[in-house]
Amino acid sequence: MILRICFIWLALLFVSSTTLAQVEDFDSIKLYTLKNANGMTVKVTNFGAIITSIVVPDRAGKMADVALGYNRVEDYINAVDKPYFGAIVGRYGNRIAKGEFTLDGKQYSLARNNGENHLHGGVIGFDKVVWDARYDESKNTIQLSYLAKDKEEGYPGNLEIKVTYTLTDQDSIIVDYQATTDKSTPVNLTQHTYFNLKGEGQGTILDHQLMLNANRYTPVDAGLIPTGEIPSVANTPFDFTTAKAIGRDINLDHEQLKFGLGFDHNWVLDKGGDAGALTLAAQVHEPTTGRVLEIQTTEPGIQFYCGNFLDGRLKGKSGNAYVHRGGFCLETQHYPDSPNQPDFPTTILKPGAEYKTQTIFKFSTR
Ligand code: GLA
Repeated sequence: MILRICFIWLALLFVSSTTLAQVEDFDSIKLYTLKNANGMTVKVTNFGAIITSIVVPDRAGKMADVALGYNRVEDYINAVDKPYFGAIVGRYGNRIAKGEFTLDGKQYSLARNNGENHLHGGVIGFDKVVWDARYDESKNTIQLSYLAKDKEEGYPGNLEIKVTYTLTDQDSIIVDYQATTDKSTPVNLTQHTYFNLKGEGQGTILDHQLMLNANRYTPVDAGLIPTGEIPSVANTPFDFTTAKAIGRDINLDHEQLKFGLGFDHNWVLDKGGDAGALTLAAQVHEPTTGRVLEIQTTEPGIQFYCGNFLDGRLKGKSGNAYVHRGGFCLETQHYPDSPNQPDFPTTILKPGAEYKTQTIFKFSTR
């Protein structure tokens, strides 16, 4: 169990080029490395609570970094097309229609930063702020805390958030989320790592075999806002109940695939009657390297996004271009636009209650 507070990133020079007024103290941005008994490493920065790197073996023991990302913090800050590589997104991960919702009779307006809709917490969401970080060697954890102030990005209530990353000797990254508020507010936190199990920058993820433990999904309109229906995935390209290559059905003639430019949808997880239980959400297998990623979560949904907006312009850590569909995200979450959808499970956190969720990313080979 080793922690190295590696680098204070060379960010001072870039203060003038950033639009992020809140990032004033660049000296406080650090990069931490967690390492386990098998040599697996996970790097985390307290800027955006971003996982910048996940190095795991293939079936022959060859190590590779399977998380897309950058070497320099200014690249995360200035990324023009906002990929949210590796970040914790919130206060509301995913979309809120037209950036508006009504709560306890009061209407709230949020930034419309995704066409006419609100996405991933707004202009300066949790992915773009500096968190406090604490390393606990005995548990191999990094705990990140952030206080999102009342009215920040338009949301009501001071929200105290803690996200804890634990790296286990079973090659799991456990992500624990906890939050409390002093006013009722919507909360939906998720982790936005893009994976490529061949290694970041190693082409597309279309041959990865994906299984989603979900018989239903939430179809969307052209702005990727759920219509409110929750149909079965049977006989549609959205059926991943049995593992299939991500690319197998991605080009079929289906309206939902046109709206998402591929897969960019929320699946409703099969929870077996226990809504808050930790259950299997997804399994991904990359046949050439043998790497397997299994995801378990207490959350009711998962956004499967397959890098449809990557187009080769962004170059990552290895210097290789991140090509179209060069990474996939599996964002465990509540359903998009829940504050405006009375039939979806609620995302409202009330004062006195505790927001508590867990997601586990487990790596292996076969
Ligand atoms: C989420 C969204 C996508 C896209 C990515 C970031 O996964 O659902 O539409 O915005 O974030 O590029």
